[in-house]
Amino acid sequence: MPFRLTTKLVVLLLVLLRASAAAAHAQAKPGCPSRCGDVEIPYPFGTRPGCFLNKYFVITCNKTHYNPPKPFLRKSNIEVVNITIDGRMNVMQFVAKECYRKGNSVDSYSPTFSLSKFTVSNTENRFVVIGCDSYAYVRGYLGENRYRAGCMSMCDSFDFVTNGSCVGTGCCQIEIPRGLKELEVEAFSFNNHTNVSPFNPCTYASVVDKSQFHFSSNYLAWEGTPEKFPLVLDWEITTKETCEEAKICGLNASCHKPKDNTTTSSGYHCKCNEGYEGNPYLSDGCQDVNECEDPSLNNCTRTHICDNIPGSYTCRCRKGFHGDGTKDGRGCIPNQNTALKVALGM
Ligand SMILES: *[C@@H]1O[C@H](CO)[C@@H](O)[C@H](O)[C@H]1NC(C)=O
Ligand SMILES: *[C@@H]1O[C@H](CO)[C@@H](O)[C@H](O)[C@H]1NC(C)=O
Ligand SMILES: *[C@@H]1O[C@H](CO)[C@@H](O)[C@H](O)[C@H]1NC(C)=O
Ligand SMILES: *[C@@H]1O[C@H](CO)[C@@H](O)[C@H](O)[C@H]1NC(C)=O
Ligand SMILES: *[C@@H]1O[C@H](CO)[C@@H](O)[C@H](O)[C@H]1NC(C)=O
Ligand SMILES: *[C@@H]1O[C@H](CO)[C@@H](O)[C@H](O)[C@H]1NC(C)=O
Ligand SMILES: *[C@@H]1O[C@H](CO)[C@@H](O)[C@H](O)[C@H]1NC(C)=O
Repeated sequence: MPFRLTTKLVVLLLVLLRASAAAAHAQAKPGCPSRCGDVEIPYPFGTRPGCFLNKYFVITCNKTHYNPPKPFLRKSNIEVVNITIDGRMNVMQFVAKECYRKGNSVDSYSPTFSLSKFTVSNTENRFVVIGCDSYAYVRGYLGENRYRAGCMSMCDSFDFVTNGSCVGTGCCQIEIPRGLKELEVEAFSFNNHTNVSPFNPCTYASVVDKSQFHFSSNYLAWEGTPEKFPLVLDWEITTKETCEEAKICGLNASCHKPKDNTTTSSGYHCKCNEGYEGNPYLSDGCQDVNECEDPSLNNCTRTHICDNIPGSYTCRCRKGFHGDGTKDGRGCIPNQNTALKVALGM
């Protein structure tokens, strides 16, 4: 009995140690900063030479002008808010604008973002135009082909504008195609806002994260629209060789092509194999998942034994029982007692 308790304790300690190791999965390359301010920077991204995969994954951590420091994509003014290892990046991007006073353009800005290896997510974003005498274009490239689209928004009075409604009165929106790169957004006015200037002096336009965009009538006022809007980018790895040849993915990880290959995408992602978790771009980033710790990840009968093995787990019955040890299988049945067998003449 005392021996059993000790083994249980040791097992418990091992379980606790593994749990803390799992919580602290290294996301950056060894010896590299894992964060810039509040943002985690996982490899293949990095802030220093030796810390990123190639020049496309350079993050500039601006410590001189911001406290906490803020990360930017390469040398751009595109602020990085979040990077996920499955190929998403949340950024903040300047909004295009054209503002008028007495029919004269007084403030104008047309952002361009040449994101080379990154595409603007078509599932997460919309192109929106805000204004009452307004139209705007979004231009870019779909592979080698030029892309141009836009929408227009009109309103004769502030009273016709409804919060949360982006259907052409004060705000219009369009979907964008998959695979859009090299964006340029330009805002225009039909009549220099002359007829609507008392309540709407500006046209604003941007590609925005649709889950975070809620049109407000306040956006129509002078400087009423935020300077930057959130935007979702997709990132992937592109190499001359195939993913397998390039050996980008780490141990217990493998190469994945985007599911739907209707685009010009030539890139790929790494993913940890089933039963592993962590950063699949680091050579030993994928760590074994302990399925036994989480009842939703294993099928073992609670009252018996679950053994974690690399990439998987097995169920087994305690001494004196037999069966496969699973909840949905035969479970664990007490072994027939020899004495009983004798009594029954078996
Ligand atoms: C930090 O940001 C400021 C203001 O945007 C800019 O002027 C400066 O060049 C940036 N520094 C670095 C190191 O990027
Ligand atoms: C970053 O994105 C992941 C996945 O969508 C999310 O779980 C996490 O909360 C986000 N982090 C921040 C700081 O927004
Ligand atoms: C609008 O503004 C532009 C430049 O500010 C000017 O050239 C043009 O004549 C104006 N048009 C109208 C209709 O006011
Ligand atoms: C829209 O919401 C803002 C607050 O977010 C409010 O100030 C404004 O009056 C609302 N506009 C309309 C037309 O309801
Ligand atoms: C995980 O990687 C290690 C090291 O290459 C290897 O020994 C092990 O077999 C891998 N696990 C699985 C389940 O493939
Ligand atoms: C992806 O490409 C392969 C080979 O080019 C093709 O056989 C397959 O049907 C494509 N899948 C989709 C979903 O388009
Ligand atoms: C549990 O077992 C069933 C059938 O044996 C299987 O389909 C299911 O994926 C298992 N669940 C887990 C978490 O392993």
